[in-house]
Amino acid sequence: MRGPHNIWRLIRTGATLERTGAMDQVLAAFKAPPRLRFAARMLGWPFKWLGLKGDPDLPPTTRALTALGPAYIKFGQILSTRPDIVGDELALQLKYLQDKLPPFPTDVAKRMIAEELGLPVDEIFSAFSEPVAAASIAQVHRATLRNTGQDVAVKVLRPGIERAFQRDIDAFYLMARTIEILAPFARRLRPMDVITHFEGVVKGELDLRLECSAAAEFADNTKDDEGFQVPKPLWELSGRQVMTLAWAEGTNMADNDAIDAAGHDRRVLAARVLSLFLSHALRDGLFHGDMHQGNLKVAASGNIIAYDFGIMGRIDEYTRRVYAEILMGFIQKDYRRVAEVHFEAGYVPPDRDIDEFARALRAVGEPIFGMDATRISMARLLSYLFEVTERFGMETRTELILLQRTMVVVEGVARGLDPHINIWQVASPVVTAYVSRNVGPLALLRDLKQTLRVMARFGPRLPRIVEQALIRQAEPPVVIVRRRSLPVWMVGAVALAALALGVVLGEML
Ligand SMILES: Nc1ncnc2c1ncn2[C@@H]1O[C@H](COP(=O)(O)OP(=O)(O)O)[C@@H](O)[C@H]1O
Ligand SMILES: [Mg+2]
Repeated sequence: MRGPHNIWRLIRTGATLERTGAMDQVLAAFKAPPRLRFAARMLGWPFKWLGLKGDPDLPPTTRALTALGPAYIKFGQILSTRPDIVGDELALQLKYLQDKLPPFPTDVAKRMIAEELGLPVDEIFSAFSEPVAAASIAQVHRATLRNTGQDVAVKVLRPGIERAFQRDIDAFYLMARTIEILAPFARRLRPMDVITHFEGVVKGELDLRLECSAAAEFADNTKDDEGFQVPKPLWELSGRQVMTLAWAEGTNMADNDAIDAAGHDRRVLAARVLSLFLSHALRDGLFHGDMHQGNLKVAASGNIIAYDFGIMGRIDEYTRRVYAEILMGFIQKDYRRVAEVHFEAGYVPPDRDIDEFARALRAVGEPIFGMDATRISMARLLSYLFEVTERFGMETRTELILLQRTMVVVEGVARGLDPHINIWQVASPVVTAYVSRNVGPLALLRDLKQTLRVMARFGPRLPRIVEQALIRQAEPPVVIVRRRSLPVWMVGAVALAALALGVVLGEML
């Protein structure tokens, strides 16, 4: 959607940043070069009076983004997880962006549900509450299913939110392009990539079927995790704009008094939150990427409940193993090993000096382990580590940044529950258990088994492959292009060995 309205949005954004006093802060955070500063000020300043006023009680940037609407709030929140782009100071300020907005009328929600599910709301639910929570993208109602009496939570997107976001995203792209043209050296910040990243994250949240999917996968992965529960989604009552989940009641994770009054041991909860997060990241490679207190509760049973699956992090198995080894290296203070792992994984270019790298890693680890136990932070360890690896030429990886940022949040939640928690003491057993299962001889056997399983899939085709090889051997074909084939004895031997090994290992594991 190109057009003059985008220019208007650009001007209104600049004007609002000026009017709220956020312009300087934003330009400084992005380390904007003088030419860009000049352009931005020219764009904003003369039109300052057109800018939105916002809430004067908020700090400038928060005030500007809140006034500019949902897409800007969301953009700010996403940037708060990318201090690599906006710097630590602004990231911290953006973290406190409150994603609370006035709810929209229940009637509108009901109409959208009826439209989405093709049935009148009264036929589906015997009770349907006013909104219990409302944020920039969606709001949540409590309801009861007519046929089973089950209590559910119904999340409904804000009406017209998709179009509103699309409009603002188009304007963001225009801004990014303008920045790239006016200040080619600002390309280091990759403005277009930043917007693409934002669009990707938001698109995921604007289709509740994707959240439903994430909830289902997360619930399945964690079904045996003691003391943890994820409300199950009801697929038949969910769609693009509506998501229905089993209702899960609990005490607010931020309310220590209420948690104490309910008789829960906060020290246990704190340790559990942290070790669950780590084991989801390591064991499953799928972790909740938005684990702030608002998305967690404590059930009467003492279980921790997680809500909101709009942002999930994924880490592939290879990366998980590499990082488990890296963390293990830190635990054992074997910095040379940590350095080697980076080289072996190809994360750091081979022409870098391994000894110098190991020395830099020691400078990451030692000060942290030297700290008073209650101040040790794994999030800080990772953040220092990423700083060093970047200096040594490793590329920034979004999923690892999300992991590190979520770790900051999770450690915050854990410390909120138990100010004396020893993060490292809780984390080490999780990492050690993962390493002993996934790095070493047992893992090798499992990998072999997996390889054989893939090879065995060719089992039914093996006779034919052998036959073809034999035929080719017997009568050299008079074809124009000669295919290179393996000697027949090799094909046969490999096939037999594979099957035999497969059978043996299949029995063993
Ligand atoms: N299944 C549920 N059971 C009970 N309460 C829920 C459920 N799902 C959401 N909520 C409540 O609604 C709030 C907002 O839901 P959430 O999914 O976090 O929406 P948002 O993406 O807008 O933050 C949650 O913090 C929680 O209090
Ligand atoms: Mg939420």
